[in-house]
Amino acid sequence: MNLIHESRSAPSGLRPTLPVWSVVSPARLAHIERVATLVSQWAEEMGVPDSERNRWLRAVWLHDALRDAPAEELERWAPSALGNAALRHGPASAARAKADGETDRGVLDAVRYHSVGLAEWDMVGRVLYCADYLEPGREHAREDRARQALRFPGDSGGVLREIARTRLARAIASGWQLPDPTVRFWNTLAVRAAG
Ligand SMILES: [Fe+2]
Ligand SMILES: [Fe+2]
Repeated sequence: MNLIHESRSAPSGLRPTLPVWSVVSPARLAHIERVATLVSQWAEEMGVPDSERNRWLRAVWLHDALRDAPAEELERWAPSALGNAALRHGPASAARAKADGETDRGVLDAVRYHSVGLAEWDMVGRVLYCADYLEPGREHAREDRARQALRFPGDSGGVLREIARTRLARAIASGWQLPDPTVRFWNTLAVRAAG
């Protein structure tokens, strides 16, 4: 695989970017950049303060930073995470970011659980979960996802619930097990919708 190790690192307070320890392919980097662009658009439209926008973007740049790392590296940073690289790269990237000095619990939880969901997420986790799915580079359901991306700033809770429902339905249809955090995540969203 054609891997690159990025050497750009942002001192805190500057615009977030890929950490020096990242291992990502060019295609992965392009995905991360599209997620960052979408999140920046939402932050602009929603009028969030720069400090909050900075948290959202830190999570974006960290979330797939070890997505293309060798299995041994993922195991070293996330020894207790279950399954393959698809489920291990979030916990591994969060652990690596924490070792690198990231202390924001919301940012770390967003990165750690971005593949599975977390009931206790603050806005960082919710934004990342949605933008990771809605970025325009993915092939499937382009028009539906583009509409959801447009709706997000005005109805983030509704869009989050729709995306979770779609992703979980697909996982169940594939016969996959749902991790415990995913079940709690969905139950929280379903209860909010019913209440
Ligand atoms: Fe990921
Ligand atoms: Fe991603």
